[in-house]
Amino acid sequence: MGDSRFRRICLGAALAVLALAVSGCAADAPQDFLNHPEGPIARKADSIWDITFFIAVVVFVIVEGLLVYSLVRFRHKPGRQAKDFHGNTRLEVTLALIPTLILIGLAVPTVNTLFDVAREPEGALQVTVTAKQFWWQYDYTDLGVTTANELVIPAGVPVFLRIEADDVIHSFWVPRLAGTQDAVPGRTNTLVLEADDPGQRYMGQCKEFCGLSHANMRLLVYTKTQGEFDEWVAEQAADAQPATGAAARGEQIFLEAGCVNCHAVRGTEAEGATAPDLTHFGSRTTFAGAIFKLANEEEDGELAAWLRNPPAVKPGALMPDYGLTEDQIQSLVTYLMSLK
Ligand code: CUA
Repeated sequence: MGDSRFRRICLGAALAVLALAVSGCAADAPQDFLNHPEGPIARKADSIWDITFFIAVVVFVIVEGLLVYSLVRFRHKPGRQAKDFHGNTRLEVTLALIPTLILIGLAVPTVNTLFDVAREPEGALQVTVTAKQFWWQYDYTDLGVTTANELVIPAGVPVFLRIEADDVIHSFWVPRLAGTQDAVPGRTNTLVLEADDPGQRYMGQCKEFCGLSHANMRLLVYTKTQGEFDEWVAEQAADAQPATGAAARGEQIFLEAGCVNCHAVRGTEAEGATAPDLTHFGSRTTFAGAIFKLANEEEDGELAAWLRNPPAVKPGALMPDYGLTEDQIQSLVTYLMSLK
């Protein structure tokens, strides 16, 4: 390979890496958290970042400034002889001391904040989050509500999450509201969340590689006023309405096709506990790790595609292809969408 060709390839690769890195600076991206902490917990974490970044910039400017100065000031000149010396104890001690003092100075607010955000707030809403390949289960332990992928919370109220995992290690992350917390089988980790405003929708995702559809293990957080939240809880805690009309045929297929081995629809014989609780499936906006939309009728196409062959649209999905006919799929879509 020619020298210039090699250099061009290197330059191209460097530009590609730079472009990728710069894309991380996109303003107002859904998961941008540096300039958009949207709750007290996120703001506390952000303030630590601000202090650290400010000190890092000052250190960078001083160190690079001295480096550039030395390069220019002491560059090679004809007749100039380099000085030959060994060590400078006072300088070395000073250079070890300055960073040590900076790190100790940073440790004080950092450790304070770590303990502060980890504490269980009084009057917090209690939710157990169970991470599974590749979706999230939410149990509102005091409210009798179980749902999946979309966490609904009242704004201005701290939420205390107990984070667990059923299979492998996952990690729960809603960048604008809090830091990350690992979900580890056999352990219960905790995380506090609090959102400022009602009517918001925050994106989140699994942040620990957990298998084929790790990238498809997303989640949403919806915020409501306390009143709206109480209404939502009342609806979600209720059993499913009896299926009528076209939905009744779908319900029959649902109960006979094997769906009930894994899924629950409270108020029916379906009591499976390994897959998402579908009692109020139609009230959600997404499904299957919040990657497919359920927002309107056109998008029901995504539900039909899912039922046709789940692993084909979401690699590694544990729900198998049940070989349903198109007719059965349409009935199931009607039934599932009726579960409001
Ligand atoms: Cu779950 Cu990555």
